[in-house]
Amino acid sequence: QTLLELAKKMPKTELHLHIEGTFEPEQMFAIAQRNHVALTYATVDELKRAYQFESLQDFLDLYYQGMSVLLHEQDFYDLTMAYLKRVHDDNVVHVEIFFDPQAHLERGVSFETQIKGIYGALKDAERDFGMTFKLIMSFLRHLEEKDAFDTLALAKPYLDWIDGVGLDSSEVGHPPEKFVNVFRECKSLGLKVTAHAGEEGPPAYVWQAIDEIGVDRIDHGNRALEDNNLIATIKQKALTLTVCPLSNLKLRVVDSLVEHPIRCMLRLGLNATVNSDDPAYFGGYMNDNYAALVEETQLTKEELYRLACNGFEGSWLDQPTKAKHL
Ligand code: HPA
Ligand code: ZN
Repeated sequence: QTLLELAKKMPKTELHLHIEGTFEPEQMFAIAQRNHVALTYATVDELKRAYQFESLQDFLDLYYQGMSVLLHEQDFYDLTMAYLKRVHDDNVVHVEIFFDPQAHLERGVSFETQIKGIYGALKDAERDFGMTFKLIMSFLRHLEEKDAFDTLALAKPYLDWIDGVGLDSSEVGHPPEKFVNVFRECKSLGLKVTAHAGEEGPPAYVWQAIDEIGVDRIDHGNRALEDNNLIATIKQKALTLTVCPLSNLKLRVVDSLVEHPIRCMLRLGLNATVNSDDPAYFGGYMNDNYAALVEETQLTKEELYRLACNGFEGSWLDQPTKAKHL
């Protein structure tokens, strides 16, 4: 079998996925209609034509606009279930998904509404597909640390459903150190911790994520490669990098996949993984990301296996469950 066939068939994990970034235009229009809310774009095609981004911020503006039609528990359930069905077809057997509670709270959608819909779909996929999952609540870094604390307070009744916390949204100008106190509190509650770092932000932000926040892994991490001491530290701590090839291409973090750093990360001995980030916006789900790497980067069979294995190793599954998947 070809490498591409192998990539598609092998069991995989998704460790970097924003559930709001799986909102396909067709579903967005359907939910907008049933909720009687208007979208800025008149048709699915018009919306899709707007998916041309020069930067992370360009994308985020559309991302927050798109999710604004999500109002009810059923909307969050339908969004999540559509994604889980889609990646079940890609043989993704374990997912760790982010949601952005603050982006919905500010629109008047309660924490309870959001998490009940998302968690309900995850439980149904566990029952129906044998899929395992972790749920990660992400703080919006363009807001203040105080807002993150307020969100954490709302999450307290649901901590049994939440495995970890993350940090996303506009990176430059909002370094990890801005959130040192809230992450310390999260850790004391037993939550795992990750943060987007080094997507557009400098190596200093990745250092802060490690030294000041004490992250359990790093989302993206591309720009860590600019600093040899940082590379050595990530390796020594065996921190997993949740890399997102098609996202990086769409958001101009790289100019082409040929020059994508993921193979370099593997050569350096870093635990790089493949993930889709916001697949509805970036042109592909899990297998599309693997297919793009196979087709554009001369990935070897060994590298393919390594990437898939790194996904299980870098997951927050307990050892027996990992073993069951492999
Ligand atoms: N980076 C930062 N914030 C995000 C992203 C991303 O790729 N996707 C959704 N929120
Ligand atoms: Zn992301």
